[in-house]
Amino acid sequence: MKTFNIATIPADGIGPEVIAAGVAVLDVLAARDGGFSFNFQNFDWGSDYYRAHGRMMPEDGLDLLKGHDAIFFGAVGAPDVPDHITLWGLRLPICQGFDQYANVRPTRILPGISAPLRDRGPGDLDWVIVRENSEGEYAGHGGRAHRGLPEEVATETAIFTRVGVTRIMRYAFSLARSRPRRLLTVVTKSNAQRHGMVMWDEIAAEVAAEFPDVTWDKMLVDAMTVRMTLDPASLDTIVATNLHADILSDLAGALAGSLGVAPTGNIDPERRFPSMFEPIHGSAFDITGKGIANPVATFWTACQMLEHLGQDAPARRLMKAIEDVCAAGIMTPDVGGSSTTREVTDAVIESIRGSNR
Ligand code: IPM
Ligand code: MG
Repeated sequence: MKTFNIATIPADGIGPEVIAAGVAVLDVLAARDGGFSFNFQNFDWGSDYYRAHGRMMPEDGLDLLKGHDAIFFGAVGAPDVPDHITLWGLRLPICQGFDQYANVRPTRILPGISAPLRDRGPGDLDWVIVRENSEGEYAGHGGRAHRGLPEEVATETAIFTRVGVTRIMRYAFSLARSRPRRLLTVVTKSNAQRHGMVMWDEIAAEVAAEFPDVTWDKMLVDAMTVRMTLDPASLDTIVATNLHADILSDLAGALAGSLGVAPTGNIDPERRFPSMFEPIHGSAFDITGKGIANPVATFWTACQMLEHLGQDAPARRLMKAIEDVCAAGIMTPDVGGSSTTREVTDAVIESIRGSNR
């Protein structure tokens, strides 16, 4: 029997609540399947760790994670620690240190969840956003000089490399090819950003030649927000820069009814390092400890993790259980339900146990 070694990093806010729910569901899935099991190792990093040690994770943090098959991540962010410290202290060092260059964000309208788009329901919106996750606007290049003086200057430089753009483009084209519609939209802002974004367009055209069976088109990011809102069914797989896709994925989450159910995989497609799976929602301090955090995003990202581990059938079983439970109206208050984290989790577990697929 195959045992997967998973590092869990629940971190801040509701992170521990949703990761505990995800671990419970994954253990039940493994038992139901019988062909694999999980060995979870927990890491108590995050803002509490920061208050105690002055850093979000130990100096050798990446070494401690390196040997795992995947990382299951909760959320970071605390009211009393600046966001750029929590982000650059834990999540980004893992993404960038492990070269998880493909950030994969599926969006669909789940059954039972009401989406803001008129007359649209499940099936009308079925996207995967591929976000470049290693460079671009999040490269961390820049600086500040003459701090506090009238002549203060700050630069924030986006870095685009041929290697970085080519590999994310290949990833996006092959993901598009694996989906029934074989349709990719490449998003840039190459009218205004005439260096890096024009290179994106050129590389997209080069890589497209390797994928003659994928239909592709180009959109400017501003016009893309309109198309996502007014013509969602015309889109399938979408690739964009780190920042553009960050913004578009929030819009996608909102159009699908809730950012609270949206998952994300930070993937090293070459599998040199563990990939990391997390819900997109943040630490949500306003509801921490109340037992009403929505575990659906964590379950959905657990599906992504199972797929990454080659467990496609259990991934489908879990997704079906999530959809059945949502369709039955067993949902937390953020998506209009009145159930607790525990009740949603128990319902998903019951559905997994009862499924004969
Ligand atoms: C996301 C989030 C993060 C990001 C924040 C928390 C820095 O918005 O995963 O989309 O911008 O990458
Ligand atoms: Mg975001």
